[in-house]
Amino acid sequence: MYTFIKIATFFAHLGLVFAQSRITIDISETHQEIDGFGVSQAFTRAAEFEAMDPEPRQKGLDYLFNTTTGAGLTIIRNRIGSTSDDSILPQNPGSPDATPEYVWDGSDSSQVWFSKEAMKYGISTIYANAWSAPGYMKTNGNEANGGYLCGVSGRSCQSGDWRQMYANYLTQYVRFYAQEGIPVTHVAFLNEPDYVTSYSSMQSDGNQAASFIPILHEALETAGFGNVTINCCDAMGWPSQRTITSQLVAAGMEEYLGVITSHMYTGDPDSPMNTRLKTWQTEGCDLDSRWCTTWYSNGGLCEGMTWANKIHTGIVNAGLSAYLYWEGVEVNQFQASSYLVASDGTNVIPSGRLWAFAMWSLFVRPGAKRVGTSGSVNGVGVGAFQNTDGSVAVVFTNNGNSRQDVIIGFSGFAPSAGVAYLTDNKNSVAETESTIADGVVSVSVPGRAVVTVKLMGE
Ligand SMILES: *[C@@H]1O[C@H](CO)[C@@H](O)[C@H](O)[C@H]1NC(C)=O
Ligand SMILES: *[C@@H]1O[C@H](CO)[C@@H](O)[C@H](O)[C@H]1NC(C)=O
Repeated sequence: MYTFIKIATFFAHLGLVFAQSRITIDISETHQEIDGFGVSQAFTRAAEFEAMDPEPRQKGLDYLFNTTTGAGLTIIRNRIGSTSDDSILPQNPGSPDATPEYVWDGSDSSQVWFSKEAMKYGISTIYANAWSAPGYMKTNGNEANGGYLCGVSGRSCQSGDWRQMYANYLTQYVRFYAQEGIPVTHVAFLNEPDYVTSYSSMQSDGNQAASFIPILHEALETAGFGNVTINCCDAMGWPSQRTITSQLVAAGMEEYLGVITSHMYTGDPDSPMNTRLKTWQTEGCDLDSRWCTTWYSNGGLCEGMTWANKIHTGIVNAGLSAYLYWEGVEVNQFQASSYLVASDGTNVIPSGRLWAFAMWSLFVRPGAKRVGTSGSVNGVGVGAFQNTDGSVAVVFTNNGNSRQDVIIGFSGFAPSAGVAYLTDNKNSVAETESTIADGVVSVSVPGRAVVTVKLMGE
């Protein structure tokens, strides 16, 4: 049931006149389940993080994961190494039928440390993602520079069909983590398969992926890891992942996969993917700017407000269940903004982007369901969610310049207590005023700001 009321009254406040809008949140209208928000420490970033002095290192971890002092992120994305230095099968066994001699150093480029630290904060979504198979399994004999997995449709190699060996190898990686006490929950065998580059990369279209996915599914199940979800395909952007997804769906792969994953570099998630599977945006960042902590200046890619808008569009308009930035904490990498928290080894500095993630991740917790909203607020994105504990979070993303006053009514929920938090140029997840009266909540959303209202039911 909707009550769709736009109050056409204006009221004077502090001598100024503000528009007041009314929205209604309908708890009985449920959309996608939320898995969370997160980062990676791939490509030596976990090792540099682990090597920090204990105090700033703890501060960095707190900024990422702590629910009182940080962003409360809930997903990590680890890289399954494919080079002769970081792969668990660095030596070519000789043929796809030979017995592989796996090696495990207990560190996995410090991603074991990072995973265990994340788990101390309650993180339970651990995504292991291979950028490529080892070179000897590929058409180009190299783990870099694209090339295909030998044996996928239309790609054969003299050395044979390596699909089963690659599936066993990914399963063994999951087993090594299980032995470390780290339950990998999601695994993927491709990263940016639509992009060829001089570091770890492997090409695939949807049909080629479909000629491997059932083999991986079977290998995991046979090894007792049928509880691990297979993700695909971390394409460069939403439009190319759409193409790959349509091939996967046509090939019947929804039966084997759990999550369709995409990056945002060549196109943001802005409308739903055609699949019954969950969708995640698994890697996004600013690749162009120097380190910046700005919340809002001119809408640039390093600014927090920009990412607040992207997360809103992804979760609300595209129906994403997760949104991940590229890296979390980096040390002495001030030439870049491709990560959320910077350190010079002593000081630890959060960015506006971190607080954009916090405005979602602290309040929209894993297992939450997006719920219905009706009515609108001029220039303000509205997302509403019910958490598994019954609490409701409403995230307002005001990309306009002017303050908007909002009245929130409910259908199927009676708010008894609530707190509103504000992030803008002057505040980072700071408490801001809100009132509850007669089952209706009132809150102000300043311009270029995110306000999240967290409400407990009766
Ligand atoms: C989060 O930060 C608070 C405040 O500093 C601290 O007491 C708590 O132990 C931290 N949580 C974790 C899981 O480390
Ligand atoms: C999946 O099952 C295996 C084997 O029983 C176990 O070690 C692992 O922790 C489980 N993983 C998850 C994500 O529950």
